[in-house]
Amino acid sequence: MINKLKDMFKRVYGEDSEKVFFAPGRVNLIGEHTDYNGGNVFPCALTFGTYALTKKRNDKKIRFYSENFDELGIMEIDIDEMVYNKEHDWANYPKGVIWAFEKNGMKIDSGFDILIYGNIPNGAGLSSSASIEVLTGVVLADLFNFDISMIDIVKASQIAENQFVGVNCGIMDQFAIGMGKKDNAILLDTNTLKYQYSSIKLDGASIVIANTNKRRGLADSKYNERRSECETALKDLKTELHINSLCELNEEEFEKNRHLIKNEVNARRAKHAIYENQRTLKAVKALENKDIELFGKLMNASHVSLRDDYEVTGIELDTLVEIAWRMPGVIGSRMTGAGFGGCSVSIVKDEFVDDFIKKVGDEYKTKIGHEAVFYVAQIGDGARKL
Ligand code: GLA
Repeated sequence: MINKLKDMFKRVYGEDSEKVFFAPGRVNLIGEHTDYNGGNVFPCALTFGTYALTKKRNDKKIRFYSENFDELGIMEIDIDEMVYNKEHDWANYPKGVIWAFEKNGMKIDSGFDILIYGNIPNGAGLSSSASIEVLTGVVLADLFNFDISMIDIVKASQIAENQFVGVNCGIMDQFAIGMGKKDNAILLDTNTLKYQYSSIKLDGASIVIANTNKRRGLADSKYNERRSECETALKDLKTELHINSLCELNEEEFEKNRHLIKNEVNARRAKHAIYENQRTLKAVKALENKDIELFGKLMNASHVSLRDDYEVTGIELDTLVEIAWRMPGVIGSRMTGAGFGGCSVSIVKDEFVDDFIKKVGDEYKTKIGHEAVFYVAQIGDGARKL
């Protein structure tokens, strides 16, 4: 694979590349839409992701090329032109990170050529965009010898997404991609950024990701809408409570104060965030106690809450997950990521995996009219130079 990419670099830029980097995609096992509500998340990095090959230049030009968007060709952009430009499409993500680095006082003083290739399905909710962002951060730190920690690369990547690209995401994706560890998920408290690794030993079961292949058309604006609904709910609760984020409340405290939230829809959004945060903590405990069945039940409950209270699933994800629940050998299944299309994640006993893929795939195609794509996921390490 790397040799093929090196040949590609030479073909595209006419010179040999100097360095190779990789950043994974991520899948979240539980803890959805909690990361901008001060709650916990439990994602892991995948073994598939995005590669970057680079070579520094002597001038002020940065040349971007992605094999995944080869029709866009080479985009040549001056270092001093790091402003959002719709025509630059995917290159706005690396541009945003360069912009965020410069904003933090890290001056990029020469240009470079960069070739990107990703094997994360695009727009599938496995964080292909956060993967390019963190990848760019790792590239910049290395090429320009910046003394920056991985956590600060993660933060700069989130700033790029929030302030440059304009999606108000939390920190989960960038964190999982930067800090991922082979065979471990990360319990991250997004309020304090305290985290712990939790080894994922599924004793004869696998993580199966299924892509609905639904285009996530309005996903970004819907995402921002959910975020502001939570903010409004918090504002209402703050009229009587001294809290800074929704997830400071547990289920009981929420029920006691639910009446403070003026709008019923916003109350359901808040309910999801608060219950999901508690579910995440319970799920990690269950895993520690080797109670994988309970972990699965909490995954299922997470989906129901995302479907009914948070309303981010949609027909494709619901169909995929509801078929999965009926299959033998399924320990748990839910949507993963932002929702509105994208992927589901299921834990399936190994001896049932082939059957699961076949049967869920067939039934999904019959009901929805197009195919889902399945991946048996391996948990890999975070972003790095290869
Ligand atoms: C997207 C965002 C994350 C997180 C999830 C939902 O992936 O980028 O920050 O909010 O949705 O859990």
